[in-house]
Amino acid sequence: MSSASQWQPVLEAALAVRSRAYAPYSHFAVGAAVQAKSGAIYSGCNVENASYGLTVCAERNALFQAIAAGEREFSILAVVADTPQPVAPCGACRQVMAEFGVDIIVLANLAGDVLVYRLEELLPAAFQGGNDKI
Ligand code: THU
Repeated sequence: MSSASQWQPVLEAALAVRSRAYAPYSHFAVGAAVQAKSGAIYSGCNVENASYGLTVCAERNALFQAIAAGEREFSILAVVADTPQPVAPCGACRQVMAEFGVDIIVLANLAGDVLVYRLEELLPAAFQGGNDKI
């Protein structure tokens, strides 16, 4: 399991980018950051739209920023929001994390509560393609 010294910089990046969330409809600002195996950290916030279904979550935004920068392998993803318990990523984002094999997911809130999971715990038996068998 990842130690605090490993995920702390990723969580700090998630906290910083949360201030850039575009959430005029839900007023729920989310920040996420992902560390690639290269060591580089990429950030993303949620971006909403008047057509609500077009909204992109912070987690997928961070991952897509990293993919566009040429990264393909990831170690840690952190996500933070102002929730009573550490914020739980939506199912769509869990599936995208599974696509790229994120090892460790750090969930946090502004109160400083932190939960650390392996992806397999958040999305057991993930769909892995058309020939997947459970
Ligand atoms: N949201 C995220 O960015 N990440 C999550 O893990 C949960 C939900 C966003 C989407 C939308 O902009 C707002 O939070 C309310 O659902």
